[in-house]
Amino acid sequence: MTATRKKIVVVGSVTLDLVTRTPKIPAIGQTLIGSGFDTTPGGKGANQAVAAARLGYPVVMVGKVGTDAYGPALLENLRHAGVDTAAMEQAEGSSGLAPMFVAETGENSIVVVPGANGKVDRAIIDRHAALIRSAGMVLCQMEIPMDTLSYTLAVCAESGVPVMLDPAPAAALPDAAFRQSTWFTPNETETAFYVGNEATVEESAKRLHEKGLRGVVLKRGAEGAFVSVLGEKAAWVRSFKVQAVDTVAAGDCFNGAFAVALLEDKDPWAAARFANAAAAIAVTRRGAQASMPSRADVDAFLAQHT
Ligand SMILES: Nc1ncnc2c1ncn2[C@@H]1O[C@H](COP(=O)(O)OP(=O)(O)OP(=O)(O)O)[C@@H](O)[C@H]1O
Ligand SMILES: [Mg+2]
Repeated sequence: MTATRKKIVVVGSVTLDLVTRTPKIPAIGQTLIGSGFDTTPGGKGANQAVAAARLGYPVVMVGKVGTDAYGPALLENLRHAGVDTAAMEQAEGSSGLAPMFVAETGENSIVVVPGANGKVDRAIIDRHAALIRSAGMVLCQMEIPMDTLSYTLAVCAESGVPVMLDPAPAAALPDAAFRQSTWFTPNETETAFYVGNEATVEESAKRLHEKGLRGVVLKRGAEGAFVSVLGEKAAWVRSFKVQAVDTVAAGDCFNGAFAVALLEDKDPWAAARFANAAAAIAVTRRGAQASMPSRADVDAFLAQHT
């Protein structure tokens, strides 16, 4: 099976969080002495790529880092996780960065600088069109320009490549995006953005199907996921009970693992169970990419939870 595995291609964002720890959020004009500083790799695209690669699946990332000092570090981080960076490019200027203050009180203030992620354009998709067209699945999120996302979806639709679109952060999508996405994986607030607040999961899935989506996965945190495939079945896949310490990137872990399991021929509900297991492990660990489990971790977890 290994020899015939079609790659996962992630078209998306690569970001570095620049976290300054401070006693309190400084007021305008104020200078404070900080208590520490960390850099943590993130970006929904990179997180999902790392999640799938950590599970031992071949993953190629298509995206951009800047010409700043952070660019090479972001690429090295991806490679270290096992992600193929041959289709990553450099854009003049800053990488995608998220400088933030995190206060001891838990308050934070964050500025997201799209930098190179904002320069992921149609031209990079064209340069890597052969790779994208040969993918087993393409994973997209919404941290690159909407025009590029639309273009990627069209290229995939034209060549019959399945796409998993994680609509995060939620934003208005062109009608075609719903028809061209094979899987749509909103969390609770994103679901509300697309279908309105009052809907039940059943009703939400139905409304999303009416927009042209065939596969809908409604991620619901500690409740698990509601998986609905048009014309087949709609059912809850409940999460695993764990002691959550940090849910950052749980959804990204879920998406990476769900893609891997689908490409390994699990049916969507079995794939969601595998993804729930991977994400359950991730929430018991701190960090975004640092919390992504290996295949052995997930296998051991599932063996303990049957
Ligand atoms: N407390 C928890 N216990 C067990 N599993 C959890 C918990 N929280 C999240 N998960 C798992 O993670 C998945 C995704 O969670 P969630 O719905 O919070 O996604 P999200 O909001 O997209 O996350 P992200 O912050 O990464 O974008 C869930 O479907 C579930 O499998
Ligand atoms: Mg999410």
